[in-house]
Amino acid sequence: MNRETYAVIGCNGQLGSELKELSANLPIDFKFYDYPEIDITKKDELLEILRKDAPGAIINCAAYTAVDKAETEKDAALAVNGIGVKNLADVAKAIDAWLIHVSTDYVFDGTACRPYAETDATNPQSVYGATKLQGEVYATSYSKGIVIRTAWLYSTYGNNFVKTMLRLGNERESLNVVFDQVGTPTYARDLAKAILAAAEKATATNDTTLAGIYHYSNEGVCSWYDFTREIFDIERIACKLSPIETKDYPTPAKRPHFSVFNKKKIKATFGIEIPHWKHSLIECLNKLNSK
Ligand SMILES: NC(=O)c1ccc[n+]([C@@H]2O[C@H](COP(=O)([O-])OP(=O)(O)OC[C@H]3O[C@@H](n4cnc5c(N)ncnc54)[C@H](OP(=O)(O)O)[C@@H]3O)[C@@H](O)[C@H]2O)c1
Repeated sequence: MNRETYAVIGCNGQLGSELKELSANLPIDFKFYDYPEIDITKKDELLEILRKDAPGAIINCAAYTAVDKAETEKDAALAVNGIGVKNLADVAKAIDAWLIHVSTDYVFDGTACRPYAETDATNPQSVYGATKLQGEVYATSYSKGIVIRTAWLYSTYGNNFVKTMLRLGNERESLNVVFDQVGTPTYARDLAKAILAAAEKATATNDTTLAGIYHYSNEGVCSWYDFTREIFDIERIACKLSPIETKDYPTPAKRPHFSVFNKKKIKATFGIEIPHWKHSLIECLNKLNSK
């Protein structure tokens, strides 16, 4: 096991791309993989590739993330989000690597009225959420498995809410956005930094009490409507924005109404500071504007 080698799986997605960018400045030997070069549903291939790298940590950013499509593609979602994570946990065990896996607020039903702690009961309301929960079970059954749940992820990479709102805001004269789903936007770059802090401590100490579930989002709370309002204000987008209820914007998969996280555990365990979502949004928009 090479403590200074990390294998990142799903490196071309939002989060994986942020890790790739951050890796340039670190004294770590990163190995980056994505589908189809690596397919986490195929355990033998995974083992063959990762055994050669012998990483100290496997960081899994790969997932089936099409939340609505998953409602009609349960097997495909489960293959990646469930079995794929089992394969990664088995391979990590075989090569004695830490597994750092990313999960979601969709494992909760969103009926809480105070920020979710890691110990709160899960109750997924969608196929995507159920498959991600299955993945959590596999990752946490491994003694060196760390699961970081996150929510409302956006980045300068990939497709996400921020980019969609920028496009729609510039194309349309008016837009309706739900105001009864409340959570915290998470800049994938900030999450990537937190993941690296976790990987560093886990590989340096090899302390298995670090294994388990953690919550990470940016600080603060807002609705999707507030988030859009902020994007439009910063970018001076004139599009008329109106708040609507979820019932007036039906989607195949049910979303949690409340997905605010309590982040005390990840801050205390890995000694990280978390930026407020508004500050990170400005950073991301500045970066998008400079591209
Ligand atoms: N996006 C959000 O709002 C959000 C919220 C909460 C949690 N999360 C979680 O955060 C993590 C990162 O999300 P993200 O937004 O960065 O995801 P993303 O942009 O959709 O990237 C996922 C990556 O995984 C790859 N992949 C899919 N199936 C694979 C397989 N069988 N083997 C190997 N790679 C495979 C995808 O490749 P292809 O493009 O070729 O399929 C893609 O490059 C995921 O675990 C997700 O569930 C996301």
